Amino acid sequence: LSNCAPPARSPRPIGVFDSGVGGLTVLKALTAQLPREHFVYLGDTARLPYGTKSPETVARYSLQAAEALADYGVKCLVIACNTASSVGLPAIRERIENVPVIGVIEPGAQAACAASRTGNIAVIATEGTVRGGAYQQAILRIRPDARVNASPAPLFVALAEEGLNEGPIANDIATHYLRPMFCASDGSAPDTLVLGCTHFPMLAGAIRRAVGASVQIVDSAATTAASVDAQLRAAGLMRTDGGDGGIRLLATDGCERFARVGSRFLERSISPDEVELVDL
Ligand code: DGL
Repeated sequence: LSNCAPPARSPRPIGVFDSGVGGLTVLKALTAQLPREHFVYLGDTARLPYGTKSPETVARYSLQAAEALADYGVKCLVIACNTASSVGLPAIRERIENVPVIGVIEPGAQAACAASRTGNIAVIATEGTVRGGAYQQAILRIRPDARVNASPAPLFVALAEEGLNEGPIANDIATHYLRPMFCASDGSAPDTLVLGCTHFPMLAGAIRRAVGASVQIVDSAATTAASVDAQLRAAGLMRTDGGDGGIRLLATDGCERFARVGSRFLERSISPDEVELVDL
């Protein structure tokens, strides 16, 4: 008999998927909530953006990405992309059996319904997410009395990627998108705004200035992280060996750009060598 300990098995990671770097805002919330877990993050940078593509194409891309992450032995899959969550979840859940699959829309809708006093809720997202109506439906399922006003804000994606989060351009574009939704002075203006796109938390300052101090702004990243935490606990899937957490980063194109732009989204420096190129 050997007195050697069996080789330590590496902990099963949590898979996180987005169309690009935007989901790093969700990964940041996940690592804050679950600092001891291992994460493998896949950004489908070769096919970004998803927000302007048809639902069929987004669903197909999302399924391929989910299957690629399943090959890493993930114990839970987070669809950290609003557009992918809005059209891809049913097919992914059907294909990736025995692994909880969590999107960002349901937690965001729950947070919005809890935050809103009047039930008058605004949602800004990509064209695809707004067109698909997933936020509108999720909010009305939870709160049938709600009035939901959803509107696309596609330029916010480009601004966040360019690093133009603050300053006159960001302020002007935020005003352009948001003032018409919030201008009613008869009490019918929304009291809550859902940031229904991974990139939008990067523009939180400009968005806050455009809507004013009294509006509740809901960013689904933190609520999604809380939901992942709860589901892992309920399923007995929490890591218990006390080791350090870790992140593995995968992209389908442009590792250098992923690292450069992604560093701002994750709020920590990413070196291009940390990013592995994968093909779906
Ligand atoms: N990640 C996407 C989302 O949250 C935004 C970027 C894209 O259009 O692919 O909807």
